[in-house]
Amino acid sequence: MTSTSTSSSSYVLSPFVPQATAVVPIDLGDRSYDIVIGAGLMGQAATYQGCPKAARALIVSNTTVAPLYAQRLQAAIASLYRAVDVLALPDGEQYKDSATLNLIYDQLLGSGADRKTVLYALGGGVVGDMTGFAAACYMRGVPFVQVPTTLLAQVDSSVGGKTAINHPLGKNMIGAFYQPQRVVCDLDTFATLPDRELSAGLAEIIKYGPIADMAFFDWIETNIAGLRARDPELLAIAVRRSCEIKAWVVGQDEKESGLRAILNFGHTFGHAIEAGLGYGKWLHGEGVGCGMVMAAHLSQRLGWIDAAFVQRLTRLIEAAGLPTTGPDLGAERYLELMRVDKKSEGGAIKFILIGNAPLAQGGTGAGCATTAPAPDEVVREVLAACIQ
Ligand SMILES: NC(=O)c1ccc[n+]([C@@H]2O[C@H](COP(=O)([O-])OP(=O)(O)OC[C@H]3O[C@@H](n4cnc5c(N)ncnc54)[C@H](O)[C@@H]3O)[C@@H](O)[C@H]2O)c1
Ligand SMILES: [Zn+2]
Repeated sequence: MTSTSTSSSSYVLSPFVPQATAVVPIDLGDRSYDIVIGAGLMGQAATYQGCPKAARALIVSNTTVAPLYAQRLQAAIASLYRAVDVLALPDGEQYKDSATLNLIYDQLLGSGADRKTVLYALGGGVVGDMTGFAAACYMRGVPFVQVPTTLLAQVDSSVGGKTAINHPLGKNMIGAFYQPQRVVCDLDTFATLPDRELSAGLAEIIKYGPIADMAFFDWIETNIAGLRARDPELLAIAVRRSCEIKAWVVGQDEKESGLRAILNFGHTFGHAIEAGLGYGKWLHGEGVGCGMVMAAHLSQRLGWIDAAFVQRLTRLIEAAGLPTTGPDLGAERYLELMRVDKKSEGGAIKFILIGNAPLAQGGTGAGCATTAPAPDEVVREVLAACIQ
């Protein structure tokens, strides 16, 4: 069994200290950069000090976010470039495809953008993933800056350099590892975020607990009502700690040769739900929320965690406003969809299990995670227990 577990890591994650605003460095040698976190950062010119200068910049956003924030960003970076264009893509996961990606290239080529042109991704994970991929490919690579405006994008997708578009046969299947120059997390952007999107972001925050940091998990449990009520201090703490954990994982395994896969806890099942229902029906974070419940059941059936923790996690996901039972796509369809997951090798599905070994063999339970296969019959039992 190939397994990579957080507990076997030689790097030590700094203990959880509830702190709000911060700069979290991502340490990747010559690709290192900072995540800056705070209220009101987007509109301040000082936020972008040190970002690459060039003749042109392009802000890539979408039809929802551009009217809310593009002017603010455009004004703040105006002194760095002679021209700053704005491109508003259609909004939605269903547009995270090659046709929409081409709109970015059309704009860049049409405006005479060169190899120094800087792209700014202004929006959620969909805009961030597409803009990052466009930056990786345009003239074989131009610099880009992430300005994430959803909770999910601030705690996860804008950090770490994974970029991609979807293919009808599988989510995020066409993409590249390509790091941004900076990530600007302006906490004020949550003011306009719909409740459902806030909950989707909470799914990725909750994810970090069982895989890496049970002290953080306890804190989220205590504060889940305040987080949903958008208490700015609590959201700031959650964004900061999530970025710290993601930076810690990515710093050790930038290109997912092992450890980084643990960040996909809940995603094997979640991606199957998203693809099976058609992209955009369930939000990514909703798929992840439900997928974590399924992955926890699987971990328990394999003896890695006890039933009490499955219940605890399920209750927290429910309290975050997320689904805890999956749509009935049929077990065989789930299995088929999970086999095209990027983690599968030669058709064998790899799951992210909570824990480092079965409890009966000295496993330590929640707080670390391991990539491992599971027998199809056990997965079928899990699906039977977790779908409506
Ligand atoms: N690259 C990675 O490492 C990584 C990690 C996790 C998720 N992802 C990807 O991220 C995507 C999900 O990202 P998401 O949840 O941010 O979805 P999203 O980008 O679709 O944004 C959600 C919705 O909120 C709107 N929106 C964004 N910011 C807003 C604001 N401040 N106010 C009002 N509305 C706003 C968007 O227009 C959209 O309608 C998925 O495609 C997923 O695969 C990537
Ligand atoms: Zn995710």
